[in-house]
Amino acid sequence: MWEVLVIGCNGITRKWLDALKGREDVVLAAFADPAVERAEALRDAYAPGAQVYDGADAALEHCKANLVLDATPPYVHHAVVTRALREGRCVLGEKPMAGDLSQAREMVACAQESSRPYFVMQNRRYLRGIQTLRAELAKTYLGKPYLVTCDMFLGAHFMGPGDGRPDFRNRMEHPVLVDMLIHTFDQARFLLGEKRAISAYCQELNPPNSWYDHSAIALCTFVFEDDSVLSLRGSWATKCENTTSHGFWRVYCTDGTACWDGAERVWVSRAQPVPSAGYFEEEGVREEIPLAYSGREDHAGCVDDMLSALNRGQTMMTDCRNNIHSLEMVHACIQSAETGKKCSISPADETA
Ligand SMILES: NC(=O)c1ccc[n+]([C@@H]2O[C@H](COP(=O)([O-])OP(=O)(O)OC[C@H]3O[C@@H](n4cnc5c(N)ncnc54)[C@H](O)[C@@H]3O)[C@@H](O)[C@H]2O)c1
Repeated sequence: MWEVLVIGCNGITRKWLDALKGREDVVLAAFADPAVERAEALRDAYAPGAQVYDGADAALEHCKANLVLDATPPYVHHAVVTRALREGRCVLGEKPMAGDLSQAREMVACAQESSRPYFVMQNRRYLRGIQTLRAELAKTYLGKPYLVTCDMFLGAHFMGPGDGRPDFRNRMEHPVLVDMLIHTFDQARFLLGEKRAISAYCQELNPPNSWYDHSAIALCTFVFEDDSVLSLRGSWATKCENTTSHGFWRVYCTDGTACWDGAERVWVSRAQPVPSAGYFEEEGVREEIPLAYSGREDHAGCVDDMLSALNRGQTMMTDCRNNIHSLEMVHACIQSAETGKKCSISPADETA
């Protein structure tokens, strides 16, 4: 039985709790938040018998639950996760693992040393479109993927906490890289079979119409360990002609191309034989691919996968040891954008 201590009780937490509803292997033991009324509200809505604490420290001190759910802001994750792991608990946590790469690497080391799992929420892997695209690529009839392109254009207006203060994303540095593109980079790694990026080049800009203090557009190019390339354009400050928040994807392979519109449409184009003489444009034969994924979507799908791995005593695809490679892509882009130079990416064990 998993006794769950929920730490951080605001915006995203309800998505986790809705996903856990009705599970017979889970009991919600306690809720913790310095804004105690938020913890009480969730307790009343989801588990009337549960304890309430006024923060992570008090909760970890007094509640002996074996599973911690960390839905605090990124700058709190390191303290919560490392303490919980050292105490022998399993941890499920929100992305990004931490605001800083060295802290995230310490969190991975802590999971290794404690032999306890720390799984990270990457809900955008659990969508019918991307699951269908991934499955189609895995059939290998399109050949080897060598170029992935993604456009993620949004006009994202975050309205703040409702008390007149601006939303933190409108003021922070590198908002789209730090707060959004971790999802998109992680989706690219999912499509490429969990490959690691080995270099990044990123140029940021803030359009004249932007309502962000810092650059809300990032143009990123990555090279992966198998020489495949990702060309990704991400924006939070675009007016019109937007994509969905999942991005519009094309995966160019040696024998054709597979696409997902970021919504409900996946299609492939297979290459045709080329005539022996003269000039010829390869267009291929297009085929719509029916969406084929029977799991739950979004947070619920990821939570199902996490619990299933915990129950089997196994790992799953968004384990911190894998997820750190998506976070490395974010920080390589920040470094590249700040220096104007291409930045190589070495995992911690190679740089130590
Ligand atoms: N996966 C997704 O799609 C998605 C979407 C939104 C947010 N998130 C992530 O979820 C996390 C939380 O985001 P949010 O939007 O819910 O933030 P939020 O600011 O709305 O809520 C965080 C809560 O944590 C509480 N908190 C702060 N310090 C604490 C501590 N020491 N102990 C206990 N509680 C503490 C705050 O009081 C607040 O109630 C972030 O990492 C964010 O990036 C993920």
